[in-house]
Amino acid sequence: MKLQSILSLLGLGCIATASNLRPRDYEAQDYYVLHLDSNTPPAQVASQLGLTHEGLLGELADHHVFSCHKQEEDVVHTALKERKRRKRSVGGSDALDGVKFAQKQKLKARMEKRGPIPPPPEGYMAPVERQAPPPVDEEVAKLDAIALALEINDPIFKEQWHLYNPVQVGHDVNVTDVWMQGITGHNATVAIVDDGLDMYSDDLKDNYFAEGSYDFNEHSLEPKPRLSDDKHGTRCAGEVSAVKNNVCGVGVAYDSKIAGIRILSKLITDADEAVAMNYAYQHNQIYSCSWGPPDDGRSMDAPGLLIKKAMLNAVQNGRGGKGSIYVFASGNGAAAEDNCNFDGYTNSIYSITVGAIDRKGLHPYYSEHCSAQLVVTYSSGSGDAIMQHTTDVGTNQCYSGHGGTSAAAPLAAGIFALVLSIRPDLTWRDMQYIVMETALPIDLDTGEWQTTTIGKKFSHTFGYGKIDTWASIEAAKQFKNVKPQAWYYSPWIHVNQSIPQGEEGLAVSFEVTEAMLKDANLERLEHVTVTMNVEHTRRGDISVDLVSPDKIVSHLSVTRRLDSLAEGYVDWTFMSVVHWGESGIGTWTIIVKDTIMNENNGTFTDWHLKLWGESIDASKATLLPMPTEDQDDDHDQIISSTTSISGSTTSVDASVPTSSIPANPTDHPDRPTKPTGTTEEESTATGTGTPSAKTSSWLPSFFPTFGVGPKTQIWIYGAAALIIIFCCGLGVYMYMARRKRLLNNPRDEWEFDLLEEDEADVLNGGGKKGGKRRAGELYDAFAAGSEDESSEGGDEREKKLYEDEDSGDEGSGRGSGHHVVGDDEDESDGDGDEKRQGDTLLHK
Ligand SMILES: *[C@@H]1O[C@H](CO)[C@@H](O)[C@H](O)[C@H]1NC(C)=O
Ligand SMILES: *[C@@H]1O[C@H](CO)[C@@H](O)[C@H](O)[C@H]1NC(C)=O
Ligand SMILES: *[C@@H]1O[C@H](CO)[C@@H](O)[C@H](O)[C@H]1NC(C)=O
Ligand SMILES: *[C@@H]1O[C@H](CO)[C@@H](O)[C@H](O)[C@H]1NC(C)=O
Repeated sequence: MKLQSILSLLGLGCIATASNLRPRDYEAQDYYVLHLDSNTPPAQVASQLGLTHEGLLGELADHHVFSCHKQEEDVVHTALKERKRRKRSVGGSDALDGVKFAQKQKLKARMEKRGPIPPPPEGYMAPVERQAPPPVDEEVAKLDAIALALEINDPIFKEQWHLYNPVQVGHDVNVTDVWMQGITGHNATVAIVDDGLDMYSDDLKDNYFAEGSYDFNEHSLEPKPRLSDDKHGTRCAGEVSAVKNNVCGVGVAYDSKIAGIRILSKLITDADEAVAMNYAYQHNQIYSCSWGPPDDGRSMDAPGLLIKKAMLNAVQNGRGGKGSIYVFASGNGAAAEDNCNFDGYTNSIYSITVGAIDRKGLHPYYSEHCSAQLVVTYSSGSGDAIMQHTTDVGTNQCYSGHGGTSAAAPLAAGIFALVLSIRPDLTWRDMQYIVMETALPIDLDTGEWQTTTIGKKFSHTFGYGKIDTWASIEAAKQFKNVKPQAWYYSPWIHVNQSIPQGEEGLAVSFEVTEAMLKDANLERLEHVTVTMNVEHTRRGDISVDLVSPDKIVSHLSVTRRLDSLAEGYVDWTFMSVVHWGESGIGTWTIIVKDTIMNENNGTFTDWHLKLWGESIDASKATLLPMPTEDQDDDHDQIISSTTSISGSTTSVDASVPTSSIPANPTDHPDRPTKPTGTTEEESTATGTGTPSAKTSSWLPSFFPTFGVGPKTQIWIYGAAALIIIFCCGLGVYMYMARRKRLLNNPRDEWEFDLLEEDEADVLNGGGKKGGKRRAGELYDAFAAGSEDESSEGGDEREKKLYEDEDSGDEGSGRGSGHHVVGDDEDESDGDGDEKRQGDTLLHK
C-alpha cells in the first residue's frame, strides 16, 4: 500500500498537472469523474482505487478524470461503498473520504445538428412562389454602394440576403450601417461547437483562432472536418466570420475570430462535453451551438450534471468573470410539435435561444416555439429553397443551402460578437437584456403576441422578436451593466391531485410576498423556472401554463401528439423569459391541463418555482453554488428559500383563490406519503379545491368556482386557506419535534450502523446513493411505527426513499449511473435550514 502511494505520488502526481485533454480510448478504457475536496491528493485516490489519474476535468475546480481498463463493474462505486462500511466499523481517515461525487462515464446519446429540416406537417401549404420577385432597383444601388464603401468584393455577398435584402426590403439583420461605423467584430471571438471547422478554407483561415479550437472527437488540436457530412460547423462559421476577401461571402462579424470545437462527429461522454463547453473560455467569448436532443416531438432531454456545472462555471468564471455567452438554436421540430422547453440546453437560463424567421419575416414551419426563446433571426423558409449563403468545407467552396434554426443561431452569435467588440465588459445577463430590449416584434397578426409588464411584446413563436443589429449596437453603446444575479426559490409545492381532462385543467397558486423577494435580494425578474413532477400515462397529453401576478402567461409546456411515453415529467425544469421585468410579487398560478380526451390520465404531484433576476443590493449578491447530484440542485441554495418557507404558509391566504395544497414545510416534497391525520385534513382542503364547472365569478377563468356564487367562493377559498395554514404550521411543528428528537437521540447513530448496506440497497430499489444516510433513513422507516413517531416523521422517511429512487431513475435515464458519496455535509446543511425554516414558522 505504502509503496503504491509513493509510486503514485512520483508518477501520477506529475500527470495531475499535465494536460487534461489526453486522448480517450472508449473501446479499452473506463473513465471516472471524481469531485474531490481540495485537500485530497488525486494521486492518492488513484493509487488506492487502482486507477490512472488523467488530470483535471477542464475548468471545473477539483473535478478529476481517472481511468482504468474497461470492465463491467463500477469499481469506484464499489470501493466507496466498502470504505463507508469500514469507516463505520473501524473509523480512521482515508483518501476516499475526500470524494464528494463520483460518476462513471458513459457515451452519451448523440446530439443532433439543427441543419436537416424535417418535412413539413401534413396539409402544410407552402407559400407558392415559383419566381422570386426581382430585387428593388433602388435597394440594389444601395447595396452596390455599401459594397463599394466597405470594399466588399466577395462574389456571393450580394446574394447574402440575410445581411442586406434588396428583395424583401427590411428583412435582414440591419447590419450594414453598423459595419459603416467600423464595427465588424474586431477583438471578438466566437467558438462554433459542432462537427468541425475547415480552418484551411480561404474564407475562414485569416480569422481562424487556433488557441480556442480543439477536436474532442479525434483529440487533436485542429477541429478539421473528417467525415463526409462534417460540413455543418464550417457553414455556421462562415455566417459568423467569413473573411472579407474574394471568396464566397462575408460573415456578419467578418473581422471577428472564429474557433472550432468539434464534438458532434463521434459519441462522447458528459465529461468531454463539459470540457468542450468551457474550452479556452477566457478567449472564446461566445459558444454557438446549433445542435441538441432530437427534434422528434418526443424527446425530453437535458444536459447531464457535469455539463450543467460547466455551463454555470462558464457564466461565473468565463470571459474574466463576465460570463461566456451560449447561443443555442431553438430546434427544427415544430412540425412534429416539438417545443424548445423540452430541451434542457435551449431552456437553460444560461443560453440565449434563437429561433428562425424566413426572408419574408414569417415563421418557418420547422422553427420551434417556447417560452424560453429569447429572439429569432433569419434563416430558410417561405416555400422555395431560399437559404442562407455561406462558406462550405473546401478551400474555395460556397454553400447556398444552409438553413434551419442551425443557421439562425450562428447569425445571432455573430451579431453578439459585434456587440462584444465594442462592449467586452458586458456580462452574460447584460447581453440577454440587450437582446430582449432591442428585438423587433414581427408578424404581429399571427405570433400570439402578448404585451408584457414592461411594455415589451412577447410571442412563443418569435420570442421578443427579430434581432436588429443596429439597434443592438446602439443599445450596447449606452448600456449600463445590470447588478449581479439574485434568485428566489419557492418551497416545493405539493399538489398530488389528478388532472381533470378537458380545457379547464388544474390550477395551483403560490403567493410571493414583497418580504420574500427582499430577503432574497431580488429586485426584478429576468428568468423564471418551474421544476415539476407530473405522473401521466401519456406525456404528450399534458400541457402547462404559468400565470404571473401581472397575468402574463407562459406556455411552459404544450401537448405533443408524438410523445406517447407512459410517464409524465420527472423533476423537469421549464424556463420562461416572458416575465422579464416583472416584480414577481403576488400570486403565481400554474395550470396543468390534460386536454386530450382519452383513457390516458395522470396526477400533478408537485412543483417548485424559481425566480431569477437582478439583485437589489449588489454588495450582498452571491454566486450560485454549483448544482449537486440532487436533481433539483437545491439543498445548498437555501439562502432564499429559508425565507420562502415561512412565507409559504402565509402566502396561501384567504385573498388568494387557489385549489392548491399548501407548500410543504420542507424544502423537498414528501411524496408519496402515508395517509395520516395531517394529510387527511389536508385532503379536506384539497377536496374543496377540486376544479369543477364554472359559474360567473370574480376569479380569472382558470380558477375553479365550484359552481357557486362569488360570496361562497370567497368563503370556500378563505376556509381552505385557513385549513391549509393550520395544517402547514402543524406539519412543521411535528416535523420539528421529530427532528429534535432524532438529533438528540444518540441511539440513532448506533442503530443504523447495524444495518447492512446491501439490504438497504435492495430495499431502496437498488438506488445508488452512498450508504450511511440511507441506512439512517431505513432505520427511521422501521422505527417510525413502533416509536410512535409523528406522521411527519413517516413522511420525511418515505420522502427520502422516494428521492433515492428518483435519482436512480434519472441516472439510468441519462445513461450515466452516478452515485453520491460524502454528501453528509450537504445533507446536514439542508436539515439545518429546514430547521431554521421551521423555527421561523413556529415563532409566527
Ligand atoms: C436599421 O438601421 C437603421 C440605421 O442604419 C435604423 O435607422 C433603422 O431603424 C434600423 N431598423 C430597421 C428595421 O431598418
Ligand atoms: C482590440 O483590443 C486591443 C487591445 O485591447 C485594443 O488596443 C484595440 O484598440 C482593439 N481594437 C478594436 C478595433 O477595438
Ligand atoms: C385514470 O383512469 C383510470 C381508469 O379510468 C382510473 O382508474 C384512475 O383512477 C385514473 N387516474 C387518475 C390519476 O385520474
Ligand atoms: C395522493 O393522493 C392519494 C389519494 O388521492 C393518496 O392515496 C396518496 O397517499 C397521496 N399521496 C401523497 C404523497 O400525498
